[in-house]
Amino acid sequence: MSLIKWSSTESPEIKIGNRVLSSRYFLSPLAGYTQYAFRVALRELGGLGLCTTDLILASQMLSSSRKAKALLKTSAEDRPLTVQIYSGLTSELVAGARWLEQKGYEAVDLNMGCPMAKMYGNGGGARIMCAPDAACQMVADVVDAVSIPVTVKMRLGWDRNSITAPLLAREFEKAGVAAITIHGRTRNQGFGGTVDLQGIRQTVEAVQQIPVIGNGDVCTVEDAFHMRRETGCEAVSIGRGAMLDPWIFRKLAQTIQGEPVLEPTREEQIQFLVRHFTLMVEQYEDYGCLLIRKFAAWYGVKLGIPEDLEDRLRQIQSIDEFHEIVAQIHLRHGERESSVPTALVKTPNGPVERW
Ligand SMILES: Cc1cc2nc3c(=O)[nH]c(=O)nc-3n(C[C@H](O)[C@H](O)[C@H](O)COP(=O)(O)O)c2cc1C
Repeated sequence: MSLIKWSSTESPEIKIGNRVLSSRYFLSPLAGYTQYAFRVALRELGGLGLCTTDLILASQMLSSSRKAKALLKTSAEDRPLTVQIYSGLTSELVAGARWLEQKGYEAVDLNMGCPMAKMYGNGGGARIMCAPDAACQMVADVVDAVSIPVTVKMRLGWDRNSITAPLLAREFEKAGVAAITIHGRTRNQGFGGTVDLQGIRQTVEAVQQIPVIGNGDVCTVEDAFHMRRETGCEAVSIGRGAMLDPWIFRKLAQTIQGEPVLEPTREEQIQFLVRHFTLMVEQYEDYGCLLIRKFAAWYGVKLGIPEDLEDRLRQIQSIDEFHEIVAQIHLRHGERESSVPTALVKTPNGPVERW
């Protein structure tokens, strides 16, 4: 299918609560990956409408744990930003949302999509969707507690016999949420199978006015437009696709503006790697060397890094070594023949009942 413009009349902007976002294409949170350094490096490439932090346990945020503080790191370059929190306890979510508002954060997202045991151990994440009345009360209490926009990210339901997203979306809208992001899988699907675009459409059709943001398996510009055409969603959130192609948001913007869609030049690719690493080191100092390792597998392919250098990046020990590897990449960029990533973003595996 050819790359066609989504719509020549539609404004590229979208309003979510009191915020006007310049693009309808957002970055989905990928815990462990989409932290401050990656977000800022990605924003600098252009076309990105909104970022959300990794999910943060509300109680950890309230007790200012080191982990929560690191996840909350932001700056003027990291806007617009939504902070995502989770908990099975309404009181913690309410206190968390108030705390974020007091600290000047612009918006809060409630996670009702995470399939993992540590989330639903205390009733948080996707498990919340199983008790619609309690979920609605929880959301209403958080909305009432703050004046910043409250949004919800959820899945279609627990399993295919329990598709609660349309009902919940309708009720959450009545409770005052500003938008809903819907990952078109059930909790029982984990990350397997395919995204159910009709399920997303049913959620879009269930609300009156608020934007529904479609999510799942969008890896190309055409995938994003396909998601919008098939579901009627007003915006699209992209997670793993942005790791595989950090330029996807810029390409979307170029397509919408009717400009030529440009692949990044060799220099841009290397600059992106350096920028991501530099921001990590600014935040974490030497520990940034450990954190960049898990990005090596996609960057290897996407940024044309020869395999032996990708291997070294995967085991990098020091900042000096990073710069030495980059000097080598400059000399040998493009030498690599394979375009298949040596690893993909890790998703939980094993039987879903044990998550
Ligand atoms: C490694 C990993 C971490 C994730 N972390 C979060 C998270 O912190 N909060 C959240 O709402 N969703 C999280 N998700 C789900 C993604 O945001 C997204 O809904 C899902 O990956 C489908 O979209 P995609 O195909 O564009 O990646 C995570 C997914 C993965 C693979």
